[in-house]
Formats: sequence, C-alpha cells, structure tokens
Amino acid sequence: MSDKLNVLLLGSGGREAAIAWKLNQSPLLGQLFIAPGNAGTQASGTNVAIKPTDFEAVAKTVKELDIDLVIAGNEDPLVGGLREALAVSCPGVPMVGPGADGAALEGSKDFAKDFMGRHGIPTARHFTATGANIDEARAFLRSLKAPYVLKADGLAAGKGVLIIDNIDEAVRSLDEMLAGQFGAASAKVVIEEFLKGIECSVFVLTDGTGSYRILPVAKDYKRVGDGDTGLNTGGMGSVSPVPFADETFMAKVEERIVKPTVEGLKAEGIDYRGFIFLGLINVEGEPMVIEYNVRMGDPETEVVMPRIASDLLPALVATAEGKLGDIRIEEDPRTAVAVMAVSGGYPGSYPKGKVIEGLDSVDGIVFHAGTATDAEGRTVTSGGRVLAAVAYGDDIAGAAAAAYDMLGKITFDGKYNRRDIGKDLV
Ligand code: AMP
Ligand code: GLY
Repeated sequence: MSDKLNVLLLGSGGREAAIAWKLNQSPLLGQLFIAPGNAGTQASGTNVAIKPTDFEAVAKTVKELDIDLVIAGNEDPLVGGLREALAVSCPGVPMVGPGADGAALEGSKDFAKDFMGRHGIPTARHFTATGANIDEARAFLRSLKAPYVLKADGLAAGKGVLIIDNIDEAVRSLDEMLAGQFGAASAKVVIEEFLKGIECSVFVLTDGTGSYRILPVAKDYKRVGDGDTGLNTGGMGSVSPVPFADETFMAKVEERIVKPTVEGLKAEGIDYRGFIFLGLINVEGEPMVIEYNVRMGDPETEVVMPRIASDLLPALVATAEGKLGDIRIEEDPRTAVAVMAVSGGYPGSYPKGKVIEGLDSVDGIVFHAGTATDAEGRTVTSGGRVLAAVAYGDDIAGAAAAAYDMLGKITFDGKYNRRDIGKDLV
C-alpha cells in the first residue's frame, strides 16, 4: 500500500454522492472510484460502469484499479455475500460492510428481532408468521391493538412494511403476504406491535473488535406529502442534529442499544466491520429499535457527511482493519438540512430524461441521486429521487431556508419537493 489510498465506493444514490464528496476532501485519498455512480459523483471521483451485485466485476475492478479499500454503499451486495466473495477473489483488501451473517440484521427482520431478543435490546413485541403457524399468527395479530404492523421478512426494496388500521384487512394482508405478495421476501412475515413516537436514525461504525463510534444523528422524512401524508418514499429530506436526541436520550441509546448490539455481534461470532444504521423511535423518552440496516441511510447521509468535521477516510480504513480504537470523529456544530427534489409522480411511475437546469447557479452542496448525463452531455433525471440540496445553518429553520433557497434555483420538468422539511422539529 502506498501512503495514498485508492478507494472503490459501491452504489449510485445520493448517499454515495455524499460519501464520495466527503472522501474527496481527505488528504489520504489517492483515486476515488464510484461504481456505478451518477452524473454528480463525477465531481468527486471517477465512475465505473459496473453493478455492485456483480461480484466478479467488482473483483476485477479492485485488481485493475489497485484498490486499497472497498466501501459498500447499499445492502443488496452485502446480503448477497460480497464480503465473502472478495475475501476469496481479492484476499487482504479491506472492506467496509459486513458479511452475509451480519447483513442478516437487515436481510431478515425475523433474524433481527431474534437478535434483539437474545441481547435484551428494546423493540416492539412481535411474532413471526410462516405458512406452518398461521393459526397462532392470526391469534397474535388479533391480540394487538390497531394499527397493525406487518413486515416481509426479507429485502423488499423498502416496500415490505404495511401498517393497517382494520383487523380484518390486516388478517387478509397477512395471508396475501405469506402467499407471495413480496415473493420469497414475505415467505415469513413479522407481525409487530405498533409503537407511537418520533423516529430518528442513529449511525454507528464498528470494526468487529467491539470498538464503535457514533456518527451525527439524523431524522428523515419518508412520506411524500407535507405534514407526513401520502405514500412512503425512499426519503424526501433530512435534518441533523435532531433536537430530541439530546444527551440523555443518546446515553440511553448507547447503553441499551449500541453497546448490546456491538457486543452481541461479537458474542455470536459475527465479525461485523461496517456501518450499523439503527432506525429508532422515541416512545415517551425511551428509545426502541424499529429496524436495523447494514449501511448508511438515504437521505440521512446527505446531512451526516456534512456534519462530520474530521477526515472520514482514516475512520473507514480503521473500521475495515479492526482498529477503530484510536480514531476520533469530530462533529460540526452546525445544523444541516437536506431537501430532495423528486420526479413528478414518484413514488409511483414518473418520466426520466428531463433536463436539469440551474445547477451552476447554486452556491452550496447539491448531492445528485437519480441523475445521468445524456448523449449531448446534459445532466438529466434518471430516477425518482433526483437530487438533494443541502445547507448549513445555526438552527433547523435557518438551514432549511437556505436549502429551499438553493432548490428554488434548480429546475426540471415535473420537479416536486416537500415544503416542510424540519418544520416539525422547530
Ligand atoms: P421499516 O422498513 O422496518 O423501517 O418500516 C418502515 C416504517 O414503518 C418505519 O420507518 C416506521 O415509520 C414504520 N414502522 C415500522 N415498524 C413500526 C412499529 N412497530 N411501530 C410503528 N411504526 C412502525
Ligand atoms: N432513509 C431510510 C433508509 O435509508 O432506509
């Protein structure tokens, strides 16, 4: 290894754009490659046109480009065993992202619930339904109070969670899920007690030895409409820090959730080196886990990266090498707000290929998500979530006003954004 590190970052969304932007500021960085990246990630590195789930192509890229560190942005390759595949094809190349055993925290909600049960981590009461225990499953469902939460066990592209008000409808949905509504992902269904509270996202880096660091806390806005109305999306905006995640709350999170999670992984022989995303809910001051993810959140990363004041690259290398013990992560005291601009129609169907204008007139951070460069070299839309305008401020209101000001200068046909990101916290 030379003293400068070549990094391969896998993914193509706003999350990867934000990680690439942060890594590009590191004096330790040699070359940064993003696979496949988007039109915006070209500003931070070089895009490589391969799929993260094509393990052979990833291995070939690691060798050809002399990569010193691989960072998995999204969960699919991890759940599919990318770490194990690279350990064989590219032995000794450090990687940020767990093996398939650790990735099951996201890849199987049943595994995650059992893991929390084994380690006393606070979460909603649950029962896992399979074809074989349907009578018991229905009885558990009927023992709960409305609304009813049904979750496909496996990965379902963020669509596998249903929250249903009516019990008969919930029972029907349970049957439909088990019958294959989400394919193999819903062969098992986790039935959960509904928890009432405000959610936040806590991100942890851990290195397999029991060491961990907590990154800046964020909150995302999942519903498409103002006032948290309408359909669920991948995320319409985000805020960091989160006022209610104060010192008292975070001390509970660390003692009751972060430590038992990291220690539980170690105790179960899972060598977890990567990000852990705790989807939490604040139930009257008590943090409970809604879900684990094995990657950063999107669009939370778009505010978390700007709020990390220290160099991220040494922390990621230390994570991959099991040496996080010596690393400090400094937080930027400012507030950051991200507002997503999405394609009209999202999260339903939407057009692509719309020319994006005004990008050059914006002074501030714009993270591309669903963008591409067309044959004429123009930046065009290529996804539902198109880009995030991110701004700093002394408080949420100030940062949000600045982000909205930036977003107002960017236009494309059918552009839509929520008007109220951060408002509930002011
Ligand atoms: P998940 O994919 O597990 O994050 O679930 C998607 C969303 O459903 C979460 O962000 C919550 O808003 C909601 N949700 C999931 N589980 C529960 C629960 N037990 N109680 C209340 N809301 C929930
Ligand atoms: N923003 C939620 C997620 O990334 O899953």
